[in-house]
Formats: sequence, structure tokens, C-alpha cells
Amino acid sequence: MRVLILPDPAAAAERAAGLIAERLRRQPRTVLGLATGGTMEALYARLIAHHRAGDVSFAAARSFNLDEYVGLSPDHPASYWRYMRAHLFDHVDFAPGATLLPHGDTGDARAEADRYEAEIVRAGDIGLQLLGLGANGHIGFNEPTSSLSSLTRVKTLTHSTREANARFFDDPADVPRHAITMGIGTILRAQEVLLLAHGTGKAVAAAQMIEGPLSAACPASALQLHRHATVVLDETAAAKLSLRDYYEAVHPSGCDAEI
Ligand code: F6R
Repeated sequence: MRVLILPDPAAAAERAAGLIAERLRRQPRTVLGLATGGTMEALYARLIAHHRAGDVSFAAARSFNLDEYVGLSPDHPASYWRYMRAHLFDHVDFAPGATLLPHGDTGDARAEADRYEAEIVRAGDIGLQLLGLGANGHIGFNEPTSSLSSLTRVKTLTHSTREANARFFDDPADVPRHAITMGIGTILRAQEVLLLAHGTGKAVAAAQMIEGPLSAACPASALQLHRHATVVLDETAAAKLSLRDYYEAVHPSGCDAEI
């Protein structure tokens, strides 16, 4: 696992955006796996800035988002469809129809999860998968005790995840109880994985993910199995790492290693 530690959340978001832009320049037809949530807002703002500066184009790329709430239509203000349009899709040059998310309102969420997994397989799997980190160690909505080889399916959200996401809803009681999420097995099939996390609230989960045992108790620890996983953290999210000196020696200030 490549662990890059940046001084603050803005620098971490810029570093992660730079890695995505670099991949798209190298392989414009990349299938991106995208995430939502508070952490991604600064990263998407930086990607939009790179696009406006002419540094990166999404015109040949495609994307699959990690997850969507069961029961929310694409037009619901708290849906991830709406989030993605507001924070990225309306501001860059993806081709029409190239950006996909699960549909939360089909009436048969299990069938929709199976269809979405098959669609990812048909696309040749994800090239670069972007991830945030739940304070409880979740990736996507793979809550603790999720199977480490799970595929896209319906998951019940934990109380703590519903509480953490209540800020996106008018009434905390409106936060759905279920989501369709790519599985950990789906995520592990990606060619490259890039996880971004910042803040003290993520420090324990970040340490468990990087240095803890491989365990369904911390779904993000499954990234230890991935050959091309990069974790970008700010100082506060890195605060509980015990091998901090080592990561800093290999990647000083989050830079690429020199060999
Ligand atoms: C969102 C997702 C989640 C979030 C995680 C962190 O698509 O899959 O795993 O990345 O809950 O959310 P924030 O960034 O809001 O702390």
C-alpha cells in the first residue's frame, strides 16, 4: 500500500485529484469508479479546476459510482445521482450516458444490484477506483462484517453511518436504511484503488485499514490485499499510524518515491 501523507485536507485533495488527472492523461478511456460524501467535494472541485485549465478531459472515460440509497430517485435532492451532477458531472466533459450509478428507486433493489454488477463486468471492470473512508472503516457502504469478497448488493446501513450522513437530509429520520453498494470483491477487482481521507474522525479507521489485521471488522483493511492501492491522508487522519516515519521516508511530504 502506498501511503501519502499531506499537510492538510486541501493538499490531500489536490494530490488525489492530480493522481486521477495523471491516469486520465495516460489512459483517457479509463473506467473510473467514483465516490460521494463530504471528503470528495474538495477533490471534485480540484478536478473541475484541472479540467477548466485544460489539464484533463473525461470525454473518453466512463464512470460507475460506488453506491446509491435504496428508495431515492435520481432527482431526490439527497440522491447520489444529484450529488454527482452538482459536484462533478455538470462541470466536466463526460459523454452523455457515460456516467452510471445504481438506481435506488427501481422497486427491486436486489435485481438492480445484480444488474449493476453485471454492467461493471461488461465494462471490463474498474480501472481506477476512488474511495472515501467511513469512521467505522467502511468503503462504499460495505459496513463492518461485510464479506471481503462481496459483490454489488443491498446493505443495511449502520446507525453510525445514518447519523454521519444525516447532514445531507432535511430530517435525520429521512436517511434511508439500505443502500445498493459495490462489494469489496468488486472494488478489489479494480486495476488501481485510490482512497482519500482527512480529519481526526478518520484516524482510527485509517490506522486499522493500513496497519491493523485484515478483518471484516474494518472493511477498508481489505485494501491490504490490493496490489495497487494508494491512500492519501492529511496529517490529522494519519495521527494514529505507528509506522508514520517509514511512510514519510518513502514518500516525503506525500511525494512519489525516488529509487
Ligand atoms: C460514498 C461512500 C462512503 C463515503 C464515506 C466517507 O459514496 O461510498 O464510503 O466515502 O462514508 O464519507 P465522508 O467523506 O462524507 O466522510
